[in-house]
Amino acid sequence: MAKSKQSTQLLLCPTPAALIACSSGKEQNIIPLAWVGVVNSSPPMVSIAVRPNRHSYKMIKQTGEFTINIPREDQVDVVDGCGTASGRDLEKFEHFNLTPVNGALSSAPMIKECPISMECTLKHSLELESHTVFIGQVVSSYVEEGVLDEKGSIDFERCSILGFCSGNYLKTAPLNLKLGYTLKK
Ligand SMILES: Cc1cc2nc3c(=O)[nH]c(=O)nc-3n(C[C@H](O)[C@H](O)[C@H](O)COP(=O)(O)O)c2cc1C
Repeated sequence: MAKSKQSTQLLLCPTPAALIACSSGKEQNIIPLAWVGVVNSSPPMVSIAVRPNRHSYKMIKQTGEFTINIPREDQVDVVDGCGTASGRDLEKFEHFNLTPVNGALSSAPMIKECPISMECTLKHSLELESHTVFIGQVVSSYVEEGVLDEKGSIDFERCSILGFCSGNYLKTAPLNLKLGYTLKK
């Protein structure tokens, strides 16, 4: 079928609707971000793109720490709620009944209720026109035991990751096909 040319848009879809947690030391906060990506394998590094006017921005910049927490589809209310209120006005952990859990980092907590969490230390910042790209090194990764299969790998049927694109929340469903499966055909 023919494709029609659209206005120039960011159509990388889906990306995860991730919950980034951070802290100033005194105050903790959560910011949902969809502009997140994997940028390096060794050491493992990720990018997050944050507008400088976000309350979380200063916390990440000042402490050099953040955590990436991947919510399930059924946590979409929390994602939308955290993304339409600012930590300037609302203590989001308390308001959304989320539990901060400390791991290896000195300030940024992880979110207990999310099935996947990664602790990151800030390595680089790149100021673009609208957003600043923070590149973080993943220093530890955690997965809820209930979503692991018998081999210890993530079973994506069990955690139904929430996706996001162009202002829309998306379902993601595994195809149950492993990388390289065509070589075995
Ligand atoms: C699903 C979703 C994805 C979002 N992605 C981004 C993003 O990639 N970058 C960004 O700066 N803001 C993004 N936002 C907006 C922030 O989450 C929102 O402005 C939030 O209220 C900021 O919180 P804070 O002021 O407490 O830091 C997103 C919001 C939602 C709901």
